Amino acid sequence: MRPLQHASLPAERVPGKGRLGSRRPEIPPGTMALMGSDGSTGDPAWIEPWTRGQGETRTLAFFERAWGGAADGVWSAPGRLTIIGEHTDYSGGLSLPTVTAHRTYVAARRREDSSVRIASEGAGDLAGPGETWEGRLSDIAPSSVGGWPAYVTGVLWALRERGYDGPGVDLAITSCLPADAGLGSSGAVECATALAVNALWRLALDSDDAHAELAEACIDGEEAIAQAPTGGLDQHTQLRCREGEALELDFSERPPIATHRPLYFPDYGLCLLITDVRSRGRQRTAGYVERRDQCAAAAAALGVERLRDLVGVHGARFRIEGLPDPVLRARARHVVTEVERVIDVSAQLAGTGPAHERFVDIGKQLFRSHASLEVDFEASTPELNLAVDTAFRSGALGARMVGAGFGGSTLALVRRADADAVASDIDRAFTASGRERPRFLVV
Ligand code: GLA
Repeated sequence: MRPLQHASLPAERVPGKGRLGSRRPEIPPGTMALMGSDGSTGDPAWIEPWTRGQGETRTLAFFERAWGGAADGVWSAPGRLTIIGEHTDYSGGLSLPTVTAHRTYVAARRREDSSVRIASEGAGDLAGPGETWEGRLSDIAPSSVGGWPAYVTGVLWALRERGYDGPGVDLAITSCLPADAGLGSSGAVECATALAVNALWRLALDSDDAHAELAEACIDGEEAIAQAPTGGLDQHTQLRCREGEALELDFSERPPIATHRPLYFPDYGLCLLITDVRSRGRQRTAGYVERRDQCAAAAAALGVERLRDLVGVHGARFRIEGLPDPVLRARARHVVTEVERVIDVSAQLAGTGPAHERFVDIGKQLFRSHASLEVDFEASTPELNLAVDTAFRSGALGARMVGAGFGGSTLALVRRADADAVASDIDRAFTASGRERPRFLVV
């Protein structure tokens, strides 16, 4: 997986206080510079989201600079934050994600011919052709587009494969979502592109079912054109989950069945603190492919089509523990217990018991999920473990790595009033161990 990178955005200063109160410095939205990296303040570095208005204005201006004239409109998609249910989608399991306020924006204009022009702000650092790509719709085919444009052109290709069609398009992309941080930055580019093309080609794919169709097209494009494996969690979340809610996704069917769940952490003074540990997993794609293969091999060894088929089956855990291969045994154990944790956390969110007890239970499941991903799935890293362990010592209710792992980010369920203090503790722990300082987001 090679997501788009937008790390070198010029700062835009907006007035107003940081959302977490006076201890937190004012930070321009989208700024990714480390505050205090010279040792002057020692404050943790926060990545603020753009408001929708800021994102849209910025992207329309970028479009004009890149292609001249005005865009027909601007569309956007958020980051994916898995609350719980990691590495379950491709085993037909359950996951419970939400979305970030950080989004990727695509300004777009319909053309009269079949040309496609794409500009991506800040893509200069990425593998690929620099900041722009130009070609024709008919040029887009498996193995024909390399680097970052493959994630964008893949959507056009996959929609056409599904029988949707339209003329060429001009696109301009910006983002305040950190790239390669386990928050679905590739999926956000694909989904924002799909929404733009849906409008420009007048496809009217606007209902939840229709967005599921767009998500499946994004998945096909990522696999065929970008040649990056994905289980579909990112795209279905990014096109179907609204801000402020959790989406239970059941991958026993394709497209997955989505159930909207209230996510009332803010009502109880809680938030999800994301720590981008800034270790970019070079072996992420290889590790991801290997885990998928191992899960398929474990299912075959256990005589089921997918590991999810063992959830709730009498004696299943006994069968798993009887697997002779210790690696397949551990992978199967993670998937089955992780799906059980999703079921438990969904029930806690929907439950009517005392809220604080339910939040404590949810927090424990987050720690268990991390332990399972670290020990049984071997997808964690020393940096992810350090962020989770420090969050635990700082009083977080729960914490775990998010996304594919092998680098990326963690989340911690914390009191909003404590988010600054927990972030400072994590920041200090990284500095003390000689690591690059992390960056923080809140949801
Ligand atoms: C990546 C993939 C998703 C999912 C997660 C792990 O983000 O794109 O499909 O498998 O890893 O939960």
